[in-house]
Amino acid sequence: IAGDAAKGEKVFKKCAACHAVGDGARNKVGPQLNEVFGRTAGTAEDYKYSKAMIQAGADGLVWNESTIAAYLAKPKDMIKGTKMAFAGLKKQEDLDNVIAYLASFSSA
Ligand code: HEM
Repeated sequence: IAGDAAKGEKVFKKCAACHAVGDGARNKVGPQLNEVFGRTAGTAEDYKYSKAMIQAGADGLVWNESTIAAYLAKPKDMIKGTKMAFAGLKKQEDLDNVIAYLASFSSA
């Protein structure tokens, strides 16, 4: 992981309206992101995903450094029909850093 988790915590403010991560994180508008590395797309418990995300997981999409980077760069390009209403992170540095931050809450 190339990024800096401490800087990624600041980038995560862009995500926090919809996502929680860390101790006691619950699903909000988006699924909670603990242990998202190694998670098959669309499989957080008790969260209602789009059909597109469930299909992506059924087709074998598993979240890791490169798949999360591709999704966060342009969510709707990677998964047509995703309900994540987020334009994407344009700066490679922000991507790297937020991924390092998320990785700190995953054991995979
Ligand atoms: C899904 C990360 C911003 C709403 C996801 C997933 C990831 C993710 C990894 C897939 C999780 C899974 O399959 O369990 C992030 C990060 C963000 C961000 C790191 C900031 C850089 C946002 C924002 C919103 C949002 C701002 C709301 C406006 C959602 C929703 C889903 C989702 C609704 C489910 C998508 C679907 O079922 O198609 N997000 N997200 N996210 N996110 Fe985000």
